[in-house]
Amino acid sequence: MVLALKYRPKKFEQIIGQDAIVKTLTNALSQNKLAHAYLFSGLRGSGKTTTARIFAKAMQCENGPTPTPCEICENCKMANENSHIDIIEMDAASNRKIEDIRELIEHTKYKPSIGRYKIFIIDEVHMLTNEAFNALLKTLEEPPEYVKFIMATTDPLKLPSTILSRVQHFRFNKIPEHTIESYLQKVLAEENIGFEAEALRLIVKNARGSVRDSLTLLDQAIAYSSGNITLDKTVEMLGVLNPEIISKIFKLILEGNKKELQTIIYEIKDYDMEFIIDEIILFLKEALFNGSLPLITLQRFFNIINDSKELIKLNSDNEFVLSLMFFRMIEATKPHKIDDLIKNLEQKIDINAYKPKEIQILPKGEELFETLTKKLFQRDSELGECFKNSIKFISYENNILTWESCPNPECKELFKRYFSPVIRPLINEVFGVGTKIDVKRCPTPQHQEEKKEIKPSTNMLDDKPTQVINKVREIFGSDVEITKINH
Ligand SMILES: Nc1ncnc2c1ncn2[C@@H]1O[C@H](COP(=O)(O)OP(=O)(O)O)[C@@H](O)[C@H]1O
Ligand SMILES: [Mg+2]
Ligand SMILES: [Zn+2]
Repeated sequence: MVLALKYRPKKFEQIIGQDAIVKTLTNALSQNKLAHAYLFSGLRGSGKTTTARIFAKAMQCENGPTPTPCEICENCKMANENSHIDIIEMDAASNRKIEDIRELIEHTKYKPSIGRYKIFIIDEVHMLTNEAFNALLKTLEEPPEYVKFIMATTDPLKLPSTILSRVQHFRFNKIPEHTIESYLQKVLAEENIGFEAEALRLIVKNARGSVRDSLTLLDQAIAYSSGNITLDKTVEMLGVLNPEIISKIFKLILEGNKKELQTIIYEIKDYDMEFIIDEIILFLKEALFNGSLPLITLQRFFNIINDSKELIKLNSDNEFVLSLMFFRMIEATKPHKIDDLIKNLEQKIDINAYKPKEIQILPKGEELFETLTKKLFQRDSELGECFKNSIKFISYENNILTWESCPNPECKELFKRYFSPVIRPLINEVFGVGTKIDVKRCPTPQHQEEKKEIKPSTNMLDDKPTQVINKVREIFGSDVEITKINH
């Protein structure tokens, strides 16, 4: 059995990281002050369904309503097995229509068979159609006294205000990393599995506040590292940068060691640039708070990162952008006025590295990509939809999966959140562990216009070096000497 199911809490005190909510609900139970409709909103995998089920059991228990259900009466037993006839769960994502809600409303007309209440748990309630919401509204306004609603959603903003104003709303938090970390430690102790602390920290970081995602990643890590979870194996499995690399990079930057930096750049150049930059920003934020770098240096670093982001938008070669970024950071650590320094700097920039990669489409990769898309759909239809609409397969060769990414801001958020916990593991599953991902940025509208004017086949080659040179000049000043561009 997967860990997320095996360790699904059955009691209030087993729910982690939602103390305020648990407290309010248990108080309401012990004082018998129950509302007739509740809304649980928040991140996926933060305990909404779990809490709804425990809360429902607590209302039905023969000794109840009580914050501590007896666990032995018929009501408790059936609730624990998910087979209580008076606890009706409905998934609004697949029952969105007015007919579905009418059927549910029909149910509310009959008194509970064995429980104290008839409790409806409606998951993903934001998926209901407007007509369905309207139909539900009437019942929400004046429900029979034996009816309780617990609705759950990841997206409360999509609910009509008429619904919001009739429910007691609980916002489920992202769970703090240290809370999840100590929870996973307990799970691993229970499972009798060894682990390196750094590996666990990396898993928790990649689950981004979701307990379910952290348990899913833990499942994979256990399988992948055959029992003993090491940092190296976890890094490999997640396809992320080893966190030690970033601190090494900054050590080398502060030492001014370009040679070793180049070796590292070569090692990491195939990672997604946005991801590398995110990691760097996280590292620098930490440095900001622990005071390990002077403020002025940090400020310069952040400016340099911003410039690099601009270069990435132009689809520049990763190796080139990284070199430029790190070498500029070396200069920025020197105690001169940076502007003078750059003017006087006869920096020779070798843009040899710049060369658009040839693109070749292999049918096999495309098929795998379709499988990947399907699996994403199965996991989460919203995520699948975003993936299908904004990610275009380009190629898959030498273990490198190349795609073009044009997400709208909503999808971009989803991708950011679900890359490590969901998308990356599925890529491992479909394409194999260790598959590198090369993300081509979406062409900017400006690019697209240019494409119309110039023949598309020559555009890629002719157009980009000029843009790169311009960008380099913009950053370093127009007197910069560019030694070589190969293309
Ligand atoms: N706050 C939490 N405390 C303990 N386990 C949790 C918590 N949130 C989620 N989980 C774990 O994740 C799984 C899925 O949680 P669930 O309640 O279905 O999340 P949601 O409904 O918010 O998407 C549970 O089976 C449980 O193992
Ligand atoms: Mg749920
Ligand atoms: Zn009971």
